[in-house]
Amino acid sequence: MRTFIPVNQKGGVGKTTTGYNFAHYAADEGYRSGLVDGDEQSNATKAMNPYAITEFTSADLFDSRPLPLPAKFAKLVLIPSDRARLIALERSPLEDDELLANLKARLLELAAHFDYLTFDTPGANSRIANAFLAVSDFTVIPCKIDSFSVDVSAEVLMRIMFIQKHFNPRLVNFGIMASEYDPRQPTQVRDFKQLLADYSQFMFPRVVTDRQAYREAAGAQVPVWQLKERGEDGKMRVKTAARDAAREMRDVFNLMMERMKNTRDAGRAEA
Ligand SMILES: Nc1ncnc2c1ncn2[C@@H]1O[C@H](COP(=O)(O)OP(=O)(O)OP(=O)(O)O)[C@@H](O)[C@H]1O
Ligand SMILES: [Mg+2]
Repeated sequence: MRTFIPVNQKGGVGKTTTGYNFAHYAADEGYRSGLVDGDEQSNATKAMNPYAITEFTSADLFDSRPLPLPAKFAKLVLIPSDRARLIALERSPLEDDELLANLKARLLELAAHFDYLTFDTPGANSRIANAFLAVSDFTVIPCKIDSFSVDVSAEVLMRIMFIQKHFNPRLVNFGIMASEYDPRQPTQVRDFKQLLADYSQFMFPRVVTDRQAYREAAGAQVPVWQLKERGEDGKMRVKTAARDAAREMRDVFNLMMERMKNTRDAGRAEA
């Protein structure tokens, strides 16, 4: 099992968009794929609701008791968020290392059932988000391009380095991925150039542009390459406006998955 987490302590930068689309991508590629919604906002739980399991929620991954596993998992599943329990967990008196030990033990139970497990976490430097970072194989930093990007990136890179140093030396950081980028906006072009200049070695070599199709797809509970519209002949087909977004997003995941497959240490949860 390989684990992946889009991370950024800034909200609304594309973490959930990246995460739930990736979970679909892995399933489309023929892998057993799961998305864990660890965010009390439950955005991923909405975007992937048709795939939700009912046996347990993401909060149970922090419990000391074994998971009530279903008899069989579907090819693509959502482990949904339970808002109240995640809020309680964030404030629970349990020590961080106890939470982390529980999470590791529960993930070992899931390892036999998934090829790819993706974690969606809040846009905050929360203990739940950090616990998921501490057990992940791969991370990417979706980042909106504005005059704060450079500061935000510095903070999140430091946070990942801290986690790598103290908790998870095998965590591979794919780097900062510009998201919702609009090359028609001169200020964005300027800020993006600045980011590239300051962080060239930490940049993921693909950009996700600003396209309405990403918003619509989440609302329609489909990955962006399955966003459909009714043609003049009355048949449903992939929405024309979504094609560029689909190509762009699949290209991003294609590159990520290549790197995931080529990383020897990944999938250690099976060991
Ligand atoms: N490339 C894009 N183009 C247009 N809209 C986008 C793009 N990426 C994300 N969005 C939209 O921006 C909003 C925020 O994106 P998303 O929910 O993925 O961010 P997030 O980092 O998970 O936010 P939060 O921190 O609140 O969990 C959503 O409405 C989403 O549909
Ligand atoms: Mg989110």
